[in-house]
Amino acid sequence: MREKRISVVDLARMKTEGEKIAVLTAYDATFARVLETAGVEVLLVGDSLGMVVQGQATTLPVSVDDMVYHTAAVVRGSRRALVVADMPFLSCATPAMALEAAGRLMQRGGAQMVKLEGGRRRLEVVEALVAEGIPVCGHLGLLPQSVHKLGGYRVQGRGAEEAGRLVADAEALQAAGADMLVLECVPSALAERVSRALRIPVIGIGAGVGCDGQVLVLYDMLGMGPENPPRFIEDFLVGQGSVAAAVKQYVREVKAGRFPGPEHGFE
Ligand code: KIV
Repeated sequence: MREKRISVVDLARMKTEGEKIAVLTAYDATFARVLETAGVEVLLVGDSLGMVVQGQATTLPVSVDDMVYHTAAVVRGSRRALVVADMPFLSCATPAMALEAAGRLMQRGGAQMVKLEGGRRRLEVVEALVAEGIPVCGHLGLLPQSVHKLGGYRVQGRGAEEAGRLVADAEALQAAGADMLVLECVPSALAERVSRALRIPVIGIGAGVGCDGQVLVLYDMLGMGPENPPRFIEDFLVGQGSVAAAVKQYVREVKAGRFPGPEHGFE
């Protein structure tokens, strides 16, 4: 009999019960199997694949076709994890475009949720997807698809004004029906404030231990990331004999609230 996949209802229950959610990116069937066997609950098919798989300079060149291809591989390789597919650059410019792209990610790719970057400017899109029964994960803080507008990969949400905007964006996404939120590279205190304020699970990357779960790019947490990795990355392969052991260690550290430590966060 087929194993039942983790659902958004399970993730909401984990938040209520205070169980941290372990998330990693995955781009192929073999890693998907290894990651979920090691206890990862959510597999994010991130558009980071543009950089770490395709060798692009940014995530911008990633297409919906690319995302469908990798999502389908991750779904074939997993049985229990919830699979989230990123909506690539410009695929959410209008509700109609978003419905078309999300439809392909779910029907052809087999994703159970889609993730999109942006806050209040995305409300119409989020509402259109939710109205069709599509679970949505928001993404706030550092938005890699806006790297040229941001002028680089920098910490976001510093200062009262920016922090207030981020909190308002998070609350608006939840009100529009989002089921999960990723916060990337924001001060730890702000991420904790957002996590406490929202009903839906908040997953952090470079956002401190106060979030409801953590995500890292798979290759980064296996020590294959950039030469000078940002401070929120830890190489979990160090001291472990295999990829499976490294991922189990990551899951243990996330669940116990030991990762990320204060040294991985931003003020
Ligand atoms: O594309 C990606 O891998 C992501 C994570 C960094 C959250 O969005």
